[in-house]
This record gives sequence, C-alpha cells and structure tokens, in this order.
Amino acid sequence: IKRRLTARSDRVKSVDLHPTEPWMLASLYNGSVCVWNHETQTLVKTFEVCDLPVRASKFVARKNWVITGADDMQIRVFNYNTLERVHMFEAHSDYIRCIAVHPTQPYILTSSDDMLIKLWDWDKKWSCSQVFEGHTHYVMQIVINPKDNNQFASASLDRTIKVWQLGSSSPNFTLEGHEKGVNCIDYYSGGDKPYLISGADDRQVKIWDYQNKTCVQTLEGHAQNVSCVSFHPELPIIITGSEDGTVRIWHSSTYRLESTLNYGMERVWCVCGLRGSNNVALGYDEGSIIIKVGREEPAMSMDTNGKIIWAKHSEIQQANLKAMGDAEIKDGERLPLAVKDMGSCEIYPQTIQHNPNGRFVVVCGDGEYIIYTAMALRNKSFGSAQEFVWAHDSSEYAIRESNSIVKIFKNFKEKKSFKPDFGAEGIYGGFLLGVRSVNGLAFYDWENTELIRRIEIQPKHIFWSDSGELVCIATEESFFILRYLAEKVAASQENNEGVTEDGIEDAFEVQGEIQEIVKTGLWVGDCFIYTSSVNRLNYYVGGEIVTIAHLDRTMYLLGYIPKDDRLYLGDKELNIVSYSLLVSVLEYQTAVMRRDFGMADKVLPTIPKEQRTRVAHFLEKQGFKQQALAVSTDPEHRFELALQLGELKIAYQLAVEAESEQKWKQLAELAISKCQFGLAQECLHHAQDYGGLLLLATASGNATMVGKLAEGAERDGKNNVAFMTYFLQGKLDQCLELLIRTNRLPEAAFLARTYLPSQVSRVVKLWRENLAKVNQKAAESLADPTEYENLFPGLREAFAAEHYLRESCLGTSSSTSPSSKIIIFLCLEVDLDNMELDDIDTTDVNLDDDFLDD
Ligand SMILES: *[C@@H]1O[C@H](CO)[C@@H](O)[C@H](O)[C@H]1NC(C)=O
Ligand SMILES: *[C@@H]1O[C@H](CO)[C@@H](O)[C@H](O)[C@H]1NC(C)=O
Ligand SMILES: *[C@@H]1O[C@H](CO)[C@@H](O)[C@H](O)[C@H]1NC(C)=O
Ligand SMILES: *[C@@H]1O[C@H](CO)[C@@H](O)[C@H](O)[C@H]1NC(C)=O
Ligand SMILES: *[C@@H]1O[C@H](CO)[C@@H](O)[C@H](O)[C@H]1NC(C)=O
Ligand SMILES: *[C@@H]1O[C@H](CO)[C@@H](O)[C@H](O)[C@H]1NC(C)=O
Repeated sequence: IKRRLTARSDRVKSVDLHPTEPWMLASLYNGSVCVWNHETQTLVKTFEVCDLPVRASKFVARKNWVITGADDMQIRVFNYNTLERVHMFEAHSDYIRCIAVHPTQPYILTSSDDMLIKLWDWDKKWSCSQVFEGHTHYVMQIVINPKDNNQFASASLDRTIKVWQLGSSSPNFTLEGHEKGVNCIDYYSGGDKPYLISGADDRQVKIWDYQNKTCVQTLEGHAQNVSCVSFHPELPIIITGSEDGTVRIWHSSTYRLESTLNYGMERVWCVCGLRGSNNVALGYDEGSIIIKVGREEPAMSMDTNGKIIWAKHSEIQQANLKAMGDAEIKDGERLPLAVKDMGSCEIYPQTIQHNPNGRFVVVCGDGEYIIYTAMALRNKSFGSAQEFVWAHDSSEYAIRESNSIVKIFKNFKEKKSFKPDFGAEGIYGGFLLGVRSVNGLAFYDWENTELIRRIEIQPKHIFWSDSGELVCIATEESFFILRYLAEKVAASQENNEGVTEDGIEDAFEVQGEIQEIVKTGLWVGDCFIYTSSVNRLNYYVGGEIVTIAHLDRTMYLLGYIPKDDRLYLGDKELNIVSYSLLVSVLEYQTAVMRRDFGMADKVLPTIPKEQRTRVAHFLEKQGFKQQALAVSTDPEHRFELALQLGELKIAYQLAVEAESEQKWKQLAELAISKCQFGLAQECLHHAQDYGGLLLLATASGNATMVGKLAEGAERDGKNNVAFMTYFLQGKLDQCLELLIRTNRLPEAAFLARTYLPSQVSRVVKLWRENLAKVNQKAAESLADPTEYENLFPGLREAFAAEHYLRESCLGTSSSTSPSSKIIIFLCLEVDLDNMELDDIDTTDVNLDDDFLDD
C-alpha cells in the first residue's frame, strides 16, 4: 500500500474516481466540489455548489458530467469541461445522501433522508420514472448490482438492507442483522459469490449471501461507526472505513485483517475503488487521500515455446506468440496477441511460473499454490506454502512451509522435509536450492539437502544459467556473477577436503560484481540478460555490460526465443513487447567465454555483417585482439587492432584504403619502432611529415632519401625542410635560390657572402631594391662587397675558394663523402666561434688536430 495523493480540504463526504482521466472528485461539507489530478497532485477544478453540505457527487464520464446532491435537496448537473451547470432540479424533500449512476441506461438513482429512493431519466428531461418506498429511516447509500444492472441495494438507518428491482417499487427482499443504522453497502463483483457487504453504527461489517439471504461473515474490529465499505472491484480485498479514523483492509475470501491504515485525518467518510486500477480514494474530515494497493509485478510466465500464461486478477489467460504468424515486429512495440480465457483460479494469483520444461505452471497466492498442466490448466497438485520454487530438474520443486520448514517434492510427492540451520526466510530454485536466512544465503543440494556453501549475502533474486555453471545473485544494491565449480564440489564431497561448517570452500568463484539493481533476469548461454531498476534492458557477458534498450516503463522479462532472435517482456498492464537480440551473437560470446574457438568459428558466419564489429569489440575486451581483428568489419577498429598487434601489412592496407594522414603517421611510428625504415619512409611521405622524413633520412645517412625529400619538400612549400636538405647535400645554389624565391633576401645575402661570394652582388642588389620599398635610406646603406672590397677582407680568397670548389666538383657532387666533409667543415667553421676547443670531443669524429687548428 502506497500513498499517492494527500489533498487537505474541508470535510469530504463523498469521493469518486474518473474511469479514464487521472481525476478524483471530492464533495465537501462546506458546499464545494473539487477535482484533483492525482498524477500532478494539483487541484484542477472546483464547483461552488451551494453553502450547504454536498454529501453526494459522481462522474458521468460518457456525458462529461459531474452530478451533485446537496442538503438543499437539489440535484445539479455540471459539464466538467466547461464548468457550466447543465441542469438543476429539486429531487427530494430532505438531504440527499447518495447518487448511483446506471452503467448503461440514462438513469441515476438518488436516496435521501426523506426515506425514498428515486430513479431519474436524463433522456426524458430528468423526469422521475420511479419512486422506491419501504425504508423507515434515512437511506444512506444505494449501489447497483454490477452483475445485474436491474437490481440495486440500499442501506438505511432503519438497520436494514433492502434489495430492489428496477420496475418494481417495493423491495425484492430485506436483510436484517445489524443492531444499529446501516451506513454503507457494496456488491461483490466477482462471478463466484452472490455477496453484499454492509457497515453500520454497530461498528460491524457484515457479508451477506443475497441468494440464500444469510449473513455469511461479520468483521469486527472498528472502534466506531463504520461509514464506508467496499469490495475492491478487482483485488481480493475488502476496504472499510470508520469514524474511528482508520481504514481496514481485509482479505475478501479469508476475511483476515490484512492491514489497518491510520493517516491521522480524523473520521473516514467514504471510499472508492475503480475497475482496472490499483488506486483507491478515501475521504476524511480533513481531506482526501489516494492509496495504491497491490503488487506491481504482473503474474505472468512464458514457456520456451512462446506460450504465455498470465492472471488478470483471478482470471487465467493464455496467449501464444506462434499464433501471431509472420507479422513484422518492431522493438518495443506491443504485440498483437490473441488472448484465450482459461477460466478463473481458486486463489488470487500473485505469481505464475512455468517449470523448466514448460509442462506445468504453478500459481501462487494467499499462502497457497496450485500446480496446473500448462496446456489445459488441469490442477495436478496443490497445497499451502509461503513460497514455491522449481528445481532445475523439471520434476522437482520446493516449498517454504513456514519460516523454518522447507519441503522438497519429486513427481508431486513429498521427498523430504527439512529445517535449515538458521531458518528459512526465502527460497530460490534452480541448480541448487537456495535458502535465505538472517545469516545469509545457503545453497543446498536438491538430491540430499546437503549444504554446498553458505554465502554472507542477502539476495533478492537468484538466476542460474542453463548449464548450472554460472549464477547471478542479485541484492538490493548490486549483482554478483559466480561460477559454480561442480567438479571441485564433487571432489570435496568425495574426499571430504576443504569442507567447513560453511560448506565447500571452493564451490564458487566470483566472476564479477556490477553496481546495478536487477529487477528481472534470465540467462541465454553465458550471457545474463536483465532489466534494471532504471529501466534498462541490458546483458552481461564476461564482465561487459551491453545495453539492448532503454525502456520507457517498468518491464518484466518473460523469456528469450532463439528461433525469433527476440527477447520478450511484459508490463503490469499485461502488454507484451519484444526486442531483437541475435542468438548467433549470444552463442558466439558464450563460446568465447568458454574459450571454445572451434565453436566460435562455426557460429561466426551466422552473425550478420553489421553485428561483427560489436562482437569484435567484445573479443578485444576479452583480450582476444587477433580474433577481434579477424572478425571486425569496421576499418577504424581494424586499424587500431592492427597497430596494437603490430600487424604492419594489414595496417598498411587499411591506411592505403583510408587515405588518412593520421593513419599514415600512426603507422610510421609503428614502422620506426619496428625498424621498418623503408615502410616508415613511405608512411611519412603519405603523411607529408617532412620533419619526420628529415629525421629519418639524416639519421639513416641515406643521401638518396635526402635528395628525394628535398624535391618533395620544396614542391610542398616546406621551405625549412627543403633548405635543410639542400644544405645538407651541399647544394648551395639551390639554398640560395630558395631563399631568394621565398623573399628571404637578407639571409640570402649572408649565405652568398659566406659560401657563394660570386652571387653576393646579385643578391645585395635584390635586397636593396626590396628594402627601398620601405626604407630608402636603409637600402642605400647596404654595401655590395665587390664595390667595397676594403670593407670585406678575404673576399678575393673567398672567390678563389668558391671557384676551386666548383672546379673540383666538390660541394655540388652527388657522391656523399666529399660533401659531408664540407658540411662538417662548414658547421665547424660556424661553431668554432662560440666554442672552446676543448669542448670538442674528436674521438668520434675522424678529424685530426691539424684540421681543427686550421
Ligand atoms: C470549502 O473548502 C475548500 C477546501 O478546503 C475551499 O477551497 C473552498 O473555498 C471552501 N468552500 C467554501 C464555500 O467555503
Ligand atoms: C425478486 O427478484 C427475482 C430475481 O432476482 C425475481 O424473479 C422476483 O420476481 C423478485 N421478487 C419480487 C417480489 O420482486
Ligand atoms: C448460504 O450460502 C452460503 C454460501 O454462499 C453458505 O455458506 C451458507 O451456509 C448458506 N446458508 C444457508 C442458510 O443456506
Ligand atoms: C455514531 O453514530 C451515532 C448514531 O447512530 C451517532 O450518535 C454518534 O455520534 C456516531 N459516533 C461518532 C463517533 O460520531
Ligand atoms: C482440483 O481439481 C479437482 C477436480 O479436478 C477439484 O475438485 C479441486 O477442487 C481442485 N483443487 C484446486 C485447489 O484447484
Ligand atoms: C635510401 O632511400 C631510398 C628511397 O628514398 C631507398 O630506395 C633506398 O633503399 C634507401 N637506402 C638504404 C640503404 O636504405
């Protein structure tokens, strides 16, 4: 029972729930009528009816009306959309106590302190078609029989209940038994019992059989006048309210008091339940409340062939997925199932569960269980039990009889009854029998109830895989995946080693813990599929979580049909939806988890191309990168894997296809780290990484490469690299031309002055012209060395040296050794200015001291 809405107000004399809108109607003692939206928790409409108490009000949804009856003896009809008053008439000669709306005819019935009940026909201009006379005191409440709309019952302060027929002005019969005035009355709407319930100022609640006209039960407990009673239209409960301030909930077949609610809102005046809803509205002295009653989780179960059985209240229904034919199914869409009624169940089903082979279903509720054949729903066995679980072996099951006794049955015969050491607060079926106690969880062998292992955990659910090798234990906060080591258990049992008072130590091995709350779950192979508390549909495999869908509401897993590649779920409204989940993928992942690559390879061809990459990611995460590379179809993923695996050829191929600089760079790095310089060079070229190429070319001393690089670099405008490569090759003319072309005229002038004195004049002239554009004076102060030889000592020798070098083909030659010598020479010439001679370690450089002195 959960409180959904608390609406404080003046005293509430009647409540009603709208059949389709989330509205509660409350009529107040102060003359107002309010409509609350219980979803948004807000007051949405108010009708100021009069300034006297309004003791009765009802929705007439088919006309968009609210009808009220007040102490001014007037019936008023409002349109609840326009808030307009449609009609008003004087109905009685005293306070109006109750209004009943006929479910199909254009009639209302009203009852009053004038001791009369009247029938009104709105299609005949609200004329009074009949008056029902017979009560000798106020008529407090009238209800129409839901199973026979021509019959209604009335409760009166004359201590009687009368049953009437439309068309007959005198009562059909009278029920007597209450010792004081009767305030309230209701019909039982289930098909099985011809019952009425009444509540009176004698503080008693009575249940009547109106066929043999006897009181079948009296419910005692209220400490004051009973003001309202209700047989819930669907749930197996009776709700009673009293001036003692409490609402009591009773079981409608056992009459056991289930719950007493006291919300501290003073006297209770009215109650309203609604067909098809778990909401119950209550009216008090200080306001109104809506409570939600009953379990959320639907009682439904599916067998492995797609036959679904569920309980709609106490009616059992069946639907078959196969009967849908080949209609196209979309993920998350409600399935158009044909539903077959299978009759009503003797108990109110709270859970329904197929046994593993699907031949039987067990229905549990009200502390009872009934096992039916799944096909015809013939009862096979029954009994009382707090809980019922199936074993992995279809012929076995266990029941929890009490908090201390568990019984095991085989072929419907009791095999064993035992008392678990620390009591039994819950039991779990599957491969082993799980028993929960305050001390934790204990697993027992089904065969001889030997303790296998005690685990300190408080489970909510336990799910075993079909193979019995894996088990999920779900708690309030998280879930654990354990591996059950049957061989170790067998060995320990054999030689009695490793057995403690907590069972066999090595029985389980923890595979993982996930911080998610499992609502419902099932295994397919080694994949654990579950719905979580945040409405995700996920599966767990090998430490990874894969999300299949985000659900828009709470859904309960029913099963997986491999043939359809679909997962089926139900919601509390008994809608069935499905989601695609390829069996091939699950099988493949299971095979991988079991390291069965033979099997995996067999399954692989059945996995569609678009799923391969997902599978490959899974393989990668499991550490099987080689396999992942073989399976993946995503070039990006494959390239990553190839790099990680050092698969240069594959990576190269992918880089060629992708034509991405980034890939070439990554591959170059890998090639360098693997000393594949040829490949590295090619990659760097593709990546246009001239810096990298320069480093590679010089470090490997490959003159051809340096030459090639020079051309490429200049073509691509990588001037620094181009200059450096020309320079390294001793191609001073090209260096100079490059500087000129790139308008680096001062640098060009100095280069010429140092290495190519014959070019100085030309360059200085260019420099001057260029500089003149911005600063004539500065330009004029540039001196051409050939004109001012006196300022440039050694210029002649420089000309001579240049000439000599040209003549002897040094400096421009393509052969490496002389030019390298020059390079070293040139570098040293520059560096020596800033260096102490001692700084130079000549051991690695093959130069003699004379050379250095020069
Ligand atoms: C009656 O009570 C309700 C809520 O307590 C209030 O909103 C309304 O104005 C009152 N009506 C009159 C007529 O006093
Ligand atoms: C009482 O109701 C029954 C049907 O429930 C009807 O057959 C019978 O005529 C009624 N008796 C009177 C006295 O109205
Ligand atoms: C009336 O019917 C009820 C069952 O609805 C039964 O328990 C009761 O004994 C019957 N009373 C008489 C007097 O026949
Ligand atoms: C119960 O009903 C009687 C009339 O039968 C009334 O006098 C009395 O005040 C009511 N009790 C309470 C607590 O209101
Ligand atoms: C089981 O079925 C038999 C008749 O086949 C019936 O008498 C019995 O009441 C049923 N029991 C339950 C608990 O359904
Ligand atoms: C030098 O580089 C060129 C390509 O630029 C290549 O063909 C040649 O094999 C390289 N030489 C060596 C010794 O690696």
